[in-house]
Amino acid sequence: MDIVPDRNTPLPQLIVKWAYTGIRLALSPGATIGYFAFFELLILLLRPDIVDKDNRVRIVPAEELAGQYDFVIIGAGAAGAVLANRLTENTNWTVLLLEAGGDERLITAIPALSYSFVNTDMDWQFKTEPSTNYCRGMVNNQCQWTAGKGLGGTTGINTFLYIRGNRRDYDNWRDLGNSGWGYDDVLPYFKKAENMSIPELRESPYHGTSGPLTVEYLKYEHPMTEYFLNATLEMGYSQLDINGKTQIGFHRPQTTIRNGLRCSTARAYLRPVTGRKNLHISTNSLVSKILIGETSKTAYGVEFVRENMRYTVRARKEVILSAGALLSPQLMMLSGIGPKENLEEVGVKVIHDSPGVGQNLQDHVGVGGLAFLLDPPYNTPSTLTQITDFLVKKEGQLYDIPDVDLLGFVNSRCANSSIDFPDLQLYLGSTALNTNSETVKRAFGLSDNFYATLYKNIIDKDAYGVVPSLIHPKSRGYIKLRDNNSSHLPMINANYFEHPDDLETLVDGVSFAFNLSQTPTMKKLNPRLNPNLIPECAYLNFPSRDYWRCYTRFFSWTFYHFTSTCKMGPADDKMAVVDSGLRVHGVNRLRIVDASVMPNVPSGNTNAPTIMIAEKAADLIKQDWNSIISGGCKISNVRASEIISPEL
Ligand SMILES: Cc1cc2nc3c(=O)[nH]c(=O)nc-3n(C[C@H](O)[C@H](O)[C@H](O)COP(=O)(O)OP(=O)(O)OC[C@H]3O[C@@H](n4cnc5c(N)ncnc54)[C@H](O)[C@@H]3O)c2cc1C
Ligand SMILES: *[C@@H]1O[C@H](CO)[C@@H](O)[C@H](O)[C@H]1NC(C)=O
Ligand SMILES: *[C@@H]1O[C@H](CO)[C@@H](O)[C@H](O)[C@H]1NC(C)=O
Ligand SMILES: *[C@@H]1O[C@H](CO)[C@@H](O)[C@H](O)[C@H]1NC(C)=O
Ligand SMILES: *[C@@H]1O[C@H](CO)[C@@H](O)[C@H](O)[C@H]1NC(C)=O
Ligand SMILES: *[C@@H]1O[C@H](CO)[C@@H](O)[C@H](O)[C@H]1NC(C)=O
Ligand SMILES: *[C@@H]1O[C@H](CO)[C@@H](O)[C@H](O)[C@H]1NC(C)=O
Ligand SMILES: *[C@@H]1O[C@H](CO)[C@@H](O)[C@H](O)[C@H]1NC(C)=O
Repeated sequence: MDIVPDRNTPLPQLIVKWAYTGIRLALSPGATIGYFAFFELLILLLRPDIVDKDNRVRIVPAEELAGQYDFVIIGAGAAGAVLANRLTENTNWTVLLLEAGGDERLITAIPALSYSFVNTDMDWQFKTEPSTNYCRGMVNNQCQWTAGKGLGGTTGINTFLYIRGNRRDYDNWRDLGNSGWGYDDVLPYFKKAENMSIPELRESPYHGTSGPLTVEYLKYEHPMTEYFLNATLEMGYSQLDINGKTQIGFHRPQTTIRNGLRCSTARAYLRPVTGRKNLHISTNSLVSKILIGETSKTAYGVEFVRENMRYTVRARKEVILSAGALLSPQLMMLSGIGPKENLEEVGVKVIHDSPGVGQNLQDHVGVGGLAFLLDPPYNTPSTLTQITDFLVKKEGQLYDIPDVDLLGFVNSRCANSSIDFPDLQLYLGSTALNTNSETVKRAFGLSDNFYATLYKNIIDKDAYGVVPSLIHPKSRGYIKLRDNNSSHLPMINANYFEHPDDLETLVDGVSFAFNLSQTPTMKKLNPRLNPNLIPECAYLNFPSRDYWRCYTRFFSWTFYHFTSTCKMGPADDKMAVVDSGLRVHGVNRLRIVDASVMPNVPSGNTNAPTIMIAEKAADLIKQDWNSIISGGCKISNVRASEIISPEL
């Protein structure tokens, strides 16, 4: 590389060039953490808009925490950040927001890097129990399940897609006995959250334009997007707003991005209100237990650990659990609410027997790794050019999400084609998994051997990817405590493909991918499916449905849409954990507000629905407590230094 300064190169470009050379010299391949640190240094120097110094969330020092708040919220993710904002709109209420991770890192703002944060300290790094039915291409047959740790939670590291699902998802929730959760009830809350910034959708009755969450198209549109669009039109699918009236068809990705950069819930909902005196935000604070009176069955506070000190803090009104669909059930169980047998097995005292906690686990699973080689109609700029364009000119390919350049919904043979309720979601991307091999292997937990078998002779060749996703899974998994230690992750059983229809639907997704490659538009690119077969499946005819069933059991791809482990439902449903006001059945002053309360996973990505749930929950909480206040309950001021009790 040329590092001789050229008199005509402006200083910012020079800084980038020198530093990049430094990175290349200093790092062996795959040393992502070091790469991040260098990249962040450059952002610090060149991109004050990302640094956003004046608006960053203020973390309250441990010694300034009070002993009591009106509300204590556990988890600052998609839901928790929304609640902290909305509840502190009432200046009479004090709120403590506790988050196990730290502030958002600068590097997470960049769309193209979204998968790079998997398996770092921004990820809880779950692994499912080994299985012979799925994730067989992964190390030790374990699926790697990611969930974000830090302000914004999973919205701080996710893939940005803004998708609400189908109106029937919510009508079904309502019909299961949850009044107030039908589509017409929840649409106003989707809109309340949203600032739709795609010009042609701003006037749509399905979108809002004054909410905190910005929704845009990607700032960089990859040339492949136009090919995918034309090809899907040739297949007979329309181009439509998939968050609008109907869902079948394709659309450019609508993303939770502002001016090209990540718009997590921390950025949308926390940064603007960090100056509020009635909001305390405490990071690196791992809640180990919700404190619940044994006889009163009333939640009155939480216990948490920050910098090796153990604290207890009281909630005058409510404890709100927003730790996500994998950790909310864990914390419930650690606190004595869950299936009696599991709790007794691991030595947790049962306060309330609630058999549904941790059950009904749902996710979207897909066929991973499909790669179609092609003769590219574009030139990919070098990494150095991409970085320079990003840092200096604020443009270029780092503003793309390479796995998702077009997105849509279609019916498989299992769907009811007389209604608009598609059962397959398709992600079409300008890259496939044969590139960026170290990151890809790490992100999906693929074994070296499996990766090499699939991609050995096509590493880094131009290819596009198609990933079909099963959006109405019939199989259900579960989460159990391994032991009573809050710093151990729970045991997860994904149970993918237990129901045979699930594989059938997905194989139609592969059929869609073939059909796409045969359209006149795609044929211009000479697409060729990756010729490498999985040896354990090679005895089956290629490309038969049997082969693809077998393939999918090896390359079972999670979309990380874990939901429904503390499902909402009426009291007469024994497996329901919360009621339609999201109050925990059988325990007072405890609510759950996050993806775990969804009765069933919606037909799309789960971030927007979780934000909607939190927006609605904030109104439910306000209604409940305002009616009590008008009955004469007085609010006293918090005293700073009350009962905080360091124990370690
Ligand atoms: C890699 C990836 C990509 C994704 N891409 C998309 C996408 O493109 N579009 C989309 O819609 N969805 C996407 N999702 C899913 C989506 O982001 C989640 O469904 C959503 O964020 C869930 O929100 P939540 O509030 O339930 O949980 P989270 O956002 O995960 O928030 C939970 C928070 O609680 C904290 N916490 C947990 N336990 C404790 C404890 N004991 N003490 C203190 N804090 C605790 C966690 O650290 C976390 O910050 C993706 C997920 C992943 C992992
Ligand atoms: C806050 O408390 C004051 C005094 O009790 C009351 O007048 C006011 O209405 C309350 N504000 C809200 C938003 O509830
Ligand atoms: C919504 O986004 C637009 C840009 O699309 C911006 O001008 C406006 O200020 C935003 N509105 C809010 C309420 O943030
Ligand atoms: C897509 O279709 C449009 C309209 O027919 C056409 O102008 C354009 O060239 C096509 N693009 C590609 C890449 O096929
Ligand atoms: C945790 O479990 C262990 C072993 O089962 C038991 O000895 C211990 O008392 C339990 N601790 C708590 C806090 O319940
Ligand atoms: C398909 O949906 C229609 C309309 O709701 C319904 O009448 C019909 O029974 C459904 N068909 C199947 C096979 O479920
Ligand atoms: C809980 O687990 C952590 C990490 O494995 C360990 O350091 C700690 O001692 C355990 N705590 C108890 C009470 O066993
Ligand atoms: C793909 O095309 C074939 C032949 O036209 C058709 O039978 C099949 O249903 C198509 N698959 C999908 C998922 O659309």
